[in-house]
This record gives sequence, C-alpha cells and structure tokens, in this order.
Amino acid sequence: MDLYEYQAKELFAAHGVPAQVGTVARTVEEAIEAAEELGTPVMVKSQVKVGGRGKAGGVKFASTLDAVRTHAGNILGLDIKGHVTRQLLIAQASDIAEEYYVSYLLDRANRTFLAMATHEGGMEIEQLAAERPGALARITVNALTGVDATKAAEIADAGKFPAEVRDQVIDILQHLWEVFVEEDATLVEVNPLVKTPEGKVLAVDGKVSLDDNADFRHPDHAALADIASENELEVKAKEKGLNYVKLDGQVGVIGNGAGLVMSTLDVVAYAGEAHGGVSPANFLDIGGGASAEVMADGLDIILSDPDVKSVFVNVFGGITSCDAVANGIVAALDILGDKENKPLVVRLDGNNVEEGRRILLEAAHPLVTLAETMDDGADKAAQLANAGV
Ligand SMILES: Nc1ncnc2c1ncn2[C@@H]1O[C@H](COP(=O)(O)OP(=O)(O)O)[C@@H](O)[C@H]1O
Ligand SMILES: [Mg+2]
Repeated sequence: MDLYEYQAKELFAAHGVPAQVGTVARTVEEAIEAAEELGTPVMVKSQVKVGGRGKAGGVKFASTLDAVRTHAGNILGLDIKGHVTRQLLIAQASDIAEEYYVSYLLDRANRTFLAMATHEGGMEIEQLAAERPGALARITVNALTGVDATKAAEIADAGKFPAEVRDQVIDILQHLWEVFVEEDATLVEVNPLVKTPEGKVLAVDGKVSLDDNADFRHPDHAALADIASENELEVKAKEKGLNYVKLDGQVGVIGNGAGLVMSTLDVVAYAGEAHGGVSPANFLDIGGGASAEVMADGLDIILSDPDVKSVFVNVFGGITSCDAVANGIVAALDILGDKENKPLVVRLDGNNVEEGRRILLEAAHPLVTLAETMDDGADKAAQLANAGV
C-alpha cells in the first residue's frame, strides 16, 4: 500500500524524522481555516499517490489567505496523471537554501536493501539517475546490521552532503531506517529533504510504500487504507481473499495460479485483436482449491463489473482435479442463479479432464460453452464479448 505524502510525513514525525507535517483539507474552506491556524505563507499541496505533483501544478506557494483560496480551488479536482485530487495538504512554507534526496528501498533484483542519497535533490530523481548516474549514491544495506551511525555516515558521505548538515543527515538517516524497518516498508523516500537558510534539515515531501504481507503485525496500518480511492470490486475481492485486479477490457478472466492467469490475459488480448479489439477485463487467480464457494465469489465479482461482456474460465486441474473444478463451477452457477447472465467459456485441462467435461456437458447450462484448448477458449470468449459490446 502506498501512502499519501501527509501520512508518510506523519510516520516520519512519529519516528523522530523532522518533517513539515501540516493539515489535511478536503474543501476550500477547510484549506483557508488550516492556513489561518498555521499562519501564512503556506504551501497548498495536492494529495495524490503519484510523483511530479509540483510540475503538474499541484503544489503552490500561497502568501495570503486569498492565494490559498485561489490555489485550493484550482488544485481540488485537479487530475495528475489520472489521479484526481480530493484532498490537500496545507503545510507551512519553508525557506529553502538547498534540496537533497534520500531513500531506502527493497532491491529485489539484488536481494538486498538499498540506500540512495544525493545532495542534488529536488529534481526528478529518475532524471538525475538517467542523466548523471554518478551523482546518485547507491549503498547496499545489510538486513541484519541495518543502518547504525557508521552506516549512516557512509551513506551521507557517498551522497556528498555538505559538512554543515552531515550530523543532521546522519541522524535523519538512522530515524528513516527505523521507519523502514519498524513500519515494514518497501520504500521510504524523501525528495526533497531541505536545508533552511538557518541550517535546519527537514523533510518537506515523503513517499512510503508499506508491505501488505506484514499487515498482520500492524493493526494500526488499516487506518491508513484509503478505501474510497480503491476500486470497489478490488475491495470486495480483498474481503473475500481473492487475488483480483481490475483492467479496462471486456473479457472477464478466471484461472487457477498466477502464471496461468497471466498467460491467459496475453492469449485473450491476442485473440481480441481479431474481434473488435476486446481485451481482458481483469486478473483473477482463484488459487489451488477452486471450490464452489471460491468459484462463486470469483464469478460474482467479475459479473458485477458492468464492463464485462463475456467470461473465460481457464483452469488446469492438478491436485484439485477437473471433476472437482467442474462440480465447483456447476454449484457456483446454482449459487449465482440469475446473476449469471453473461456468456461463460470454460476450458478445463489436466487431471481427470474427461470427467470434468462430462459434468459440465451434463449440467448443460445455456450460457456455458466448453472449449478444447486455451487458444480456442480465448477466441470464443473474445468473439462473444465483441458480439455483446
Ligand atoms: N512545505 C514546503 N515549503 C517550501 N517548499 C516546498 C514545500 N513543500 C514542497 N515545496 C517545494 O515544492 C516542490 C515540489 O513539492 P513536492 O512535495 O516534492 O511534490 P512532488 O515531488 O510531487 O512534485 C519541492 O521540491 C519543494 O521545492
Ligand atoms: Mg517531491
């Protein structure tokens, strides 16, 4: 789960990282109230989970309450790379002498943690990394020893931080590591970390991604979830324990095993080219079991997506044999009753496939078609979706 800037900076502050925290506002009036309380000048900042807000006009300096009104009015509703602004952060405007960059992340490719740091912050870090890779220090961090004062000094020196802020940066790096470990984050980034003209170093922006796999250790993280901005069907699927991702096509896809579902998406997208350009409407992996209940939950979610015009069920029977899966599908159709109102193409293969097909043929549901192969199934489902669009 990615956090909003204001949530990230609240975590920073809770772990002793100096941060420009501020107040969240959902309306222009709330923004003015917050600015009144903080005292102008303030920054009016779009809270969306995407970078580059400043460039997109989502971060504005306001020296008066009138300016706050204008900027808040303009930024609320502003679309930044497909993310519509619903909340603002009103934060004290800091005078900035210098901008730096620091981050910790999980470096999956190298199976380690990585610290990145540079005294040349502020600009988009991807651009700096591409144009002048040498300017961005990358220091691996051992998971067992973490970041102590010595390691923090190594990072600060590699990032060429000026001598007068070195001690503050070393301190901040240790507290940020505490955020990373204690909150189970996969990314903690500060861009920019600023130095004020008085020489104080603090975070004015923050980005944190939390590892959902560690949620069980953090009951308090549930409060950070932003249900309103998540897709309704994805929320419902999560409640049912299903791995579902909404996509923008018309063919609903269900399969067992992430690999099979991913290749099914490819095959459906390819087949769709010959059928009016239809494409997959979702990713849904029902996992190993494929019981009637799981199948019914999965189908229910897919069928309640108005974009879906046909469904392709692609199951490979392994430990759960095809007859069990077929019984699961038949029972799921029973459970769903009239809700099952879109054509369903089923391809079964693997363990006990003959019996599985026999069960589905015998059930003879009017909307269910059997396919022999995955390509054949994808083609039929795409054709049906195109006919229904
Ligand atoms: N509280 C603040 N005080 C002063 N300047 C700020 C403040 N917050 C942001 N800025 C300036 O605006 C720029 C963009 O804001 P930032 O929060 O980094 O958003 P983004 O990275 O999404 O563009 C920063 O690099 C900084 O120069
Ligand atoms: Mg930034």
